[in-house]
Amino acid sequence: MKRASARGSQLLAWVLWLQAWRVAAPCPGACVCYSEPKVTTSCPQQGLQAVPADIPAASQRVFLHGNRIAYVPAAGFRACRNLTILWLHSNALAHIDAAAFSGLALLEQLDLSDNAQLRAVDPATFRGLGRLHTLHLDRCGLRELGPGLFRGLAALQYLYLQDNGLQALPDDAFSDLGNLTHLFLHGNRIPSVPERAFRGLHSLDRLLLHQNRVARVHPHAFRDLGRLMTLYLFANNLSALPAEALAPLRSLQYLRLNDNPWVCDCRARPLWAWLQQFRGSSSELPCSLPARLAGRDLKRLAAPDLEGCAVASRPAPPIWTGGPADEEPLGLPKCCQPDAMDKASVLEAGRPASAGNALKGRVPPGDIAPGNRSGPRHINDSPFGTLPGSAEPPLTAVQPESSQPPGSPTTGPRRRPGCSRKNRTRSQCRLGQAGSGGGGSGGVEGSGAPPGLACGLVPLALTLVLWTVLGRC
Ligand SMILES: *[C@@H]1O[C@H](CO)[C@@H](O)[C@H](O)[C@H]1NC(C)=O
Ligand SMILES: *[C@@H]1O[C@H](CO)[C@@H](O)[C@H](O)[C@H]1NC(C)=O
Ligand SMILES: *[C@@H]1O[C@H](CO)[C@@H](O)[C@H](O)[C@H]1NC(C)=O
Ligand SMILES: *[C@@H]1O[C@H](CO)[C@@H](O)[C@H](O)[C@H]1NC(C)=O
Ligand SMILES: *[C@@H]1O[C@H](CO)[C@@H](O)[C@H](O)[C@H]1NC(C)=O
Repeated sequence: MKRASARGSQLLAWVLWLQAWRVAAPCPGACVCYSEPKVTTSCPQQGLQAVPADIPAASQRVFLHGNRIAYVPAAGFRACRNLTILWLHSNALAHIDAAAFSGLALLEQLDLSDNAQLRAVDPATFRGLGRLHTLHLDRCGLRELGPGLFRGLAALQYLYLQDNGLQALPDDAFSDLGNLTHLFLHGNRIPSVPERAFRGLHSLDRLLLHQNRVARVHPHAFRDLGRLMTLYLFANNLSALPAEALAPLRSLQYLRLNDNPWVCDCRARPLWAWLQQFRGSSSELPCSLPARLAGRDLKRLAAPDLEGCAVASRPAPPIWTGGPADEEPLGLPKCCQPDAMDKASVLEAGRPASAGNALKGRVPPGDIAPGNRSGPRHINDSPFGTLPGSAEPPLTAVQPESSQPPGSPTTGPRRRPGCSRKNRTRSQCRLGQAGSGGGGSGGVEGSGAPPGLACGLVPLALTLVLWTVLGRC
């Protein structure tokens, strides 16, 4: 009897063990598996160095974040046809096979963020992921977006590319993403927004481009963004922004443009006018140039403040180099002529240095001093940066004064302060040309234009006088 009972319990143990094995065996060693609410294989922070080979095929969610996985092999998840969520963030990914995610037709969410060694992703990696709606590629050390990287991702709604090392926005990179609502590109090294960068993004709601190096935005760059509600371009390198670029943004409500080296001269007029009619919320746009307006908010200037060209009112840096020679200068209006019969502001080039000083006292407390634009970023750090500088005096209280800085020339043929008797250096005369050329401002001194050409617009009489006085213009 005793024997039989021992046998019975042995059998029972065996059966129990078998039962347990059947439940547990499909779950990889370091993981926890459960089936409600979704069939899930969860193995975060387990020190895994490779994707487990035996992930249950029924898995709908696989969590592998916080490990040390360096490589995702081809078809690493092929058996998991029902996979909808895959988290691989915060690993040590240095390479992802181009076919790593092939066959995952139901995948909706893929998180590859925080893999700083990744640096590049094969353009075929996301092919066939027709249901993907969220893709995290932020903090991956990416330097570029390969051609067609996002092709066919028609269901994508959220694309996170921030905090990489992206150096360009390729044409049509996002053109298949008609359902994309959020595009995060901040914290990269993007120098310009070319014409076709955002083509096809008809559903885009939020475009974050802050903390880049954007110096140029093509006038048609935002053409398709009629649904965009939030645009961040703060902390970039914009000295100008074509108002034409903003015109298609019919739904825009939140605009941040602070912390850019805005040049508040005649070329900023269209932007200024657009801002006057903009009904949404926008940040301040503290002027960097000319010196007499440094720190003042472009939005709150009066039209007569925006006259002449400020190109050389400060020796460095150049505000507009026009970029590489093969690039057209994007949307920077030519230096304009002042309003007819305007006050002496544009004319009196005589006392430029004192002009800035004269206005210094008017810069509101806490605002940046002229010439220092590393200042009041905190002012605009509210979500939408709309805090009014309440201490600022009404704009009308500040007279333009007879104070155009040296080299604010473009007063038109009749009145060219740049070539006036008071300021007669060669470079001064050329400033007007540099400005009205819309480019090539940098080499004021280095520009090789002959003086006669540089002052070609000066009326003959004045030219003659100057030639008499100076020997050359
Ligand atoms: C995927 O889900 C379907 C429907 O729930 C199910 O019939 C099928 O067996 C699942 N596939 C795998 C590989 O588990
Ligand atoms: C894009 O969004 C629309 C509206 O939400 C939806 O009907 C459509 O199926 C989506 N496209 C894809 C490919 O998911
Ligand atoms: C900002 O733009 C100017 C030209 O407009 C360029 O010379 C300068 O290098 C840029 N600065 C950065 C940090 O990219
Ligand atoms: C510019 O402003 C910052 C912050 O207010 C200050 O720390 C810095 O000393 C200023 N630089 C100059 C040259 O005034
Ligand atoms: C312009 O003229 C004023 C006074 O005549 C002088 O102080 C100033 O240095 C001149 N500017 C240049 C760049 O020569």
